[in-house]
Amino acid sequence: MANTTGNLTQQKGTRAATVTGLLSDIANLGTDPVRGGYTRPVYSTAELDLREWFIHQAIQRGLAVETDRNGATWAWWETPGGDRANALVTGSHLDSVPGGGPFDGPLGVASALVAVDILKTRGTVPTRPLAVVVFPEEEGSRFGVACLGSRLMTGAIDPDKARNLRDPDGNTFADVAKANGLDPRHIGKDEELLGLIGAFVELHVEQGRGLIDLNQPIAIASSILGHGRWRLSVTGQGNHAGTTLMADRHDPMIAASRTVVAIRDTARNQPHARATVGRLQPVPGGTNVIASRVDFWLDVRHPDDAVTASVVESIHQQAQLIAAEEGCTVTLSEESLSTTVHFDPGLQGALQLALPEAPILDTGAGHDAGVLSPYVPTAMVFVRNPSGISHSPEEHVLDEDAETGARVLADALASLLS
Ligand code: GLV
Ligand code: MN
Ligand code: MN
Repeated sequence: MANTTGNLTQQKGTRAATVTGLLSDIANLGTDPVRGGYTRPVYSTAELDLREWFIHQAIQRGLAVETDRNGATWAWWETPGGDRANALVTGSHLDSVPGGGPFDGPLGVASALVAVDILKTRGTVPTRPLAVVVFPEEEGSRFGVACLGSRLMTGAIDPDKARNLRDPDGNTFADVAKANGLDPRHIGKDEELLGLIGAFVELHVEQGRGLIDLNQPIAIASSILGHGRWRLSVTGQGNHAGTTLMADRHDPMIAASRTVVAIRDTARNQPHARATVGRLQPVPGGTNVIASRVDFWLDVRHPDDAVTASVVESIHQQAQLIAAEEGCTVTLSEESLSTTVHFDPGLQGALQLALPEAPILDTGAGHDAGVLSPYVPTAMVFVRNPSGISHSPEEHVLDEDAETGARVLADALASLLS
């Protein structure tokens, strides 16, 4: 790991910050002028400013800050002996979807910092190291692969594939990472760092209505729905909008549109399935131009990974039929896949003992905790979102729930530290 900052000693008598106070510090970073909310893709100015904010906050707390070779930022509260083995790790991410809400990711980071404050004000002397981590590119909104940082660290993605991922402007991950101080030759599985993690607990805003319906502020996670991303490219004949008769067209936009509706219908007919097309790009994209190609991205989720695979296969077959009917061709390729995750029962049980009031909830949203779960005991804590909406500016958390979340996280961490 590169030590980007020194080890500072926390001032004695520091009071715990508040989660809402920390989030208000970053409220102006990466605001989206079009949709509202926040657009904070990995290695954008906004995301780099957020990293700097995190590093500053960590140093103020006397934590030793380092960036690992896959671009995650770690803030260590070591044991008096300076040992890092069997670390208890908490944290989340600071990147966002386009026009996302203020809490998806930053709530977990701010709560982790406040939990450290609470533990310090309680006079905790860690018997095992505690680290706060910020994983990069959790949303995959720039390079297409969700949880890229944790996938790289665990070896769940081939480093060559990662190096060659491209952002919408055609920049490779390798080039962008290099421009931001990472050596792309050294990205990939980090056995040494992974081996230090004894447990990972991620606090996150709930992204659905589970806690609203239960009228509770906090839940413990049981599982994450399996999910994946696929890219479809429909190729047709680019042509003139005025001179090409309707009967003479091979318009990939028509094939893509019909496929989008078929995707919706396929998911509706499969209990518990969710399928979404949230991004579609005509090439070249002109009002008076019949497109040559349309690229669009498919997100499919289901608790049974075999069903996910069959839904995608059915969509692929329908897309081929539709494309042929429109005189076009279509290709489908997988961009990322995360199988259904059931969190570690032992860690979940320990959290239940520490937080006896908290209900158990599953989630349809992906997280770095899910990527880490095959390698280390992993758990999640959710904080109520009174709008029930996420990946949108309307995502919300009440101030009092945010502070309860940090206190509950501190209680959970304290129970795992003792
Ligand atoms: C991440 O938030 C995802 O579930 O896509
Ligand atoms: Mn998230
Ligand atoms: Mn998200």
